[in-house]
Order: sequence, then structure tokens, then C-alpha cells
Amino acid sequence: MKVISSVGAKGGSGKSSVSLLLAWELTQKHKAKVALFDSDVQGTCLSAKNLNPSLPFDVLSVLDKPTLLANGKRCEAENFDYLIIDGNPRSLHEDPSFIECIAKISDLNLVISRPSPRDLRAQIKYVDLVKRATKGHIRLLWNFYQKNTGAHREGVPEGEELLGLKSIQTKIGLRIIYQDIGYSESFIGDFGNNEAAQEIRALGTEIQELLNEKNIRS
Ligand SMILES: Nc1ncnc2c1ncn2[C@@H]1O[C@H](COP(=O)(O)OP(=O)(O)OP(=O)(O)O)[C@@H](O)[C@H]1O
Ligand SMILES: [Mg+2]
Repeated sequence: MKVISSVGAKGGSGKSSVSLLLAWELTQKHKAKVALFDSDVQGTCLSAKNLNPSLPFDVLSVLDKPTLLANGKRCEAENFDYLIIDGNPRSLHEDPSFIECIAKISDLNLVISRPSPRDLRAQIKYVDLVKRATKGHIRLLWNFYQKNTGAHREGVPEGEELLGLKSIQTKIGLRIIYQDIGYSESFIGDFGNNEAAQEIRALGTEIQELLNEKNIRS
């Protein structure tokens, strides 16, 4: 089982949206068995599952270390292919050891960020904590990206340097179609064959490839 976390210190950067879209993509297109752990009391992913019980992946509220470790072991024993953990920015102040634990068990820590200086500076402490704890990969995943905006294009290398991290190639654009994810009953990731579908497909494929690299633990 591979563990992917969608984390970061900045509220509203898209951690829960990425978790849901990735869980959808890996189950639908890659036929994987996926569990999604929601580590936030806000329960964005949990509400998405409650609104859409037919979502093809399990969602569980996991708010502390013992619950995380016990359920992680259970998923491993039940042969899940992927465990996705939706992070909680408030843990940085409330329970940093929970962030460390998530980082430790993750094969891939995705730090979700907007390419804007204010958002990037907010990530520094969180990223330092994750870097110290993890044995897996850490990558930046840019969300709300607008490719025609100079500030965004420049924000990517600036962010990589500021945080000392590489980015994954796929960037998630700012799109109206993503705005309802988790809040409407009609969801979720079946966008047909438009640009949104293509970037979510690219995200799933790139992440699978990263996790298949030999230097990542099995
Ligand atoms: N690429 C995007 N384009 C447009 N809207 C987006 C995009 N990504 C996320 N959103 C919207 O932005 C809002 C915040 O996203 P989300 O809840 O995923 O962020 P979060 O990082 O999990 O927030 P929190 O820190 O509160 O947990 C949601 O309304 C979501 O639908
Ligand atoms: Mg969230």
C-alpha cells in the first residue's frame, strides 16, 4: 500500500479538493482500491462521502495519531492500494506530532499551494516539520494555477527555492468546475474530456509513476 498525503499550512489551498480528485482518479481510471482519511474536524471529505454515498472509495475521520496508525494498519491488511490523507493546517499549532506522524507514514507528501508569495511564506514552518519527519518524497503541487499570469509562472521557481522543494509537473488550474467539489450531490471527477479531466488524469499518472520509482519503499 502506498500512502499519499495532501498537506500544507495554508487554509483553502485545495488540500481536500486534491484528496477527493485523486481518490476519484485512482479508483476510476486506475482501478485501485483507495481509502481516504480526513484528518480535519471540518470534515470536508467526510461530508463529500455523506452527500455522495456512492463515491467509489472509503472515507474515514482520523483525528489523532492512534486512530491514524490503527486504521492505516487495517487498510494495509485489507490490501488497499492507496491511502490518501487529507491534511489539517491547524495541526501545526494544535498537534504538530500528528503532522509528523502523517509525514512519517507517507510515501509521498504533496504540499498544496497557490503560487503566491503570501501563501508560500505561510508554508515554511509546516514544510520544515514535514522535511524532518518524512522518509518518503515531498513535492509541491501547485493549485489555483493560472498559466497566463506572470506572477504565477514566477511564483513556481520562487516557491521551489523558498521551500527547498521540487514541484510535480502537473499543475491544477483555477477552474469553476472544481469549485463545487465536496459540496454538491452531483460531483465528482467525471469531467468528460475537457482540460480539467486531462489535468486530473495527468496528476494520477504522474503520482503513480513517482510512487513506482525504486527508491520509494513498497
Ligand atoms: N483549482 C481550483 N479552482 C477553483 N476552486 C478551487 C480549486 N481548488 C479548490 N477550490 C475551491 O476552494 C475552496 C477551498 O478548497 P479546499 O476545501 O479543497 O481547501 P483546503 O486546503 O482543504 O482548505 P482547509 O485548509 O480549510 O482544509 C473550495 O471551495 C474548493 O472547491
Ligand atoms: Mg480541507
